[in-house]
Amino acid sequence: MIELIIDTDPGADDAVALLLAMASPEALRLHAITTVAGNVPVTTTSRNARLVRQWAGCEQIPVYAGAATPLRRAPVYATDVHGDQGMPGVAIEEPRAPLAGGDAVQYLVDTLLAAAPASITLALLGPQTNLALALARAPGIRRGIKQVVAMAGAHFNGGNITPVAEFNLFADPHAAEAVLASGVPLTYLPLDLTHTLLALPERLARLAALGNQAGARVEAIIRHYAQHDIARYGMAGGPVHDATVIAYLLAPELFSGRDLYLQVDAREGMGFGQSVADYHGVLGQPANVHWVERGDAEGFFELLAARLRRLA
Ligand code: BDR
Ligand code: CA
Repeated sequence: MIELIIDTDPGADDAVALLLAMASPEALRLHAITTVAGNVPVTTTSRNARLVRQWAGCEQIPVYAGAATPLRRAPVYATDVHGDQGMPGVAIEEPRAPLAGGDAVQYLVDTLLAAAPASITLALLGPQTNLALALARAPGIRRGIKQVVAMAGAHFNGGNITPVAEFNLFADPHAAEAVLASGVPLTYLPLDLTHTLLALPERLARLAALGNQAGARVEAIIRHYAQHDIARYGMAGGPVHDATVIAYLLAPELFSGRDLYLQVDAREGMGFGQSVADYHGVLGQPANVHWVERGDAEGFFELLAARLRRLA
């Protein structure tokens, strides 16, 4: 059983990731969802997290709102990709259940300090601001962390918000630097991977054919959200970035990668937000990241469909 906290900025692909996680209780014990500003402002990511939780019938899982702004840079959003509401293609309503009291950063501090050593997995699906703030507030939280698995970065693929930067790192590179510097066991699922696991039309049709609301919603969200990437990159279908993090936790055998040394560029300039991966080990530095670069696309979409089938 994986003891899990998901930190997220829903976000179309975040919503799919959350549904996949909440549909997998036999493997993932989801303690809480913490939200952060990213694709849209934190009030909207928090509302969306509560709504997705409601769709999954999991209102008992607390949602804590986190950082409204990055550590140092000006906020940047991705409404051009995710829409003003952060989840395109579906009806948005005010969720029934409220946020949990208290903020996400203090929740992380309290939970990780109280946790058994190396027991909690953190899935980071947005800018890494909340964990960076928690590490600054209480460096001892490292002890409770088993691993951090983040959708972040890009190397051979190039960036999706600048020529070299992936959105989650660009939106708060200083936070990503702090997480890297903390020495927690860190896995990155970069665009190099997610741009190979595409929601082709026949895969979307299989989700729609599940015949439940979860399948219909995910199909609609991905279909609308994918338009941007299909137009920009000429892809045959859209990526579902953040859901690959949850799939990696559920079925690591679908993925492969390598350990490498990585830095995040947080200096002003064209490289701002770039993940500089020493892919060939030319610096001779010890690896600080497990870099997941390949995945079984059919296996990923089969897993997604099999789990979504369980929901209403
Ligand atoms: C990442 O950025 C966000 O727009 C997505 O939700 C994903 O986490 C992809 O670069
Ligand atoms: Ca995200």
